[in-house]
Amino acid sequence: MCAEAAARIIALANATAGAGRPFTVALSGGSTPRLLYETLAAPGYKDRIPWPRTYLFWGDERYVAPDHPDSNYRMVKAALLDNIPIPAANIFPMPTHHPEPATAAVAYEATLKAFFRLRGPERPRFGLILLGLGRDGHTASLFPRSPALAAETGLVVATDSPAAGGVRLTLTFPVINNAANILFLVTGGDKAAVLRETLTGDYRPDDIPAQRVRPADGSTCYLVDRQAAGE
Ligand code: 6PG
Repeated sequence: MCAEAAARIIALANATAGAGRPFTVALSGGSTPRLLYETLAAPGYKDRIPWPRTYLFWGDERYVAPDHPDSNYRMVKAALLDNIPIPAANIFPMPTHHPEPATAAVAYEATLKAFFRLRGPERPRFGLILLGLGRDGHTASLFPRSPALAAETGLVVATDSPAAGGVRLTLTFPVINNAANILFLVTGGDKAAVLRETLTGDYRPDDIPAQRVRPADGSTCYLVDRQAAGE
């Protein structure tokens, strides 16, 4: 699955950079994508991505210090950033040092607006957003029945749903659904039931937020392993 995901990312990066556009990626956290990030940093892969024209953002972050074991930035740094020739200026971690998470969300929103040169209500259009699928149907840090699900104007929100086990920052659905490409990575038998519900169950996005990922003008691909596809 990671080899397939890496191949698709390499193709997309080169097509985008080849067309003279920056390749913008919002990275997912958790445990599944770690192997993908390690794959992208491996010989035979890392030298096939135009890192100087690749720009890395985060789709969500745990509101902890960047060196905290739960930090998505820390995981990506160890698995990928420390092993590739990407300029530091191309890396945009979600800030987690502000006393108030809501302030961090506003700060990251400003980062997005500046980078994508957004005016007014415009939303960033990421070339690729990587997403995972939680057993409860969450994706990014958009958890079932969370107030963050209703965010229609903000680009980034702070959320503190019990399921999250702490405060998080997350891109909102308007940003996710404005992406050119969405790539879900889902592995393991413990995701088989939620994957079946997400893809074939009744449409109930408040309970299964991942169902709401439907880019208006973009592609959605689920890369799954055999166990996750078991149902
Ligand atoms: C996070 C992720 C989160 C993750 C799902 C699935 O910060 O944890 O962004 O949305 O993708 O929880 O996690 P796994 O892929 O590790 O099962």
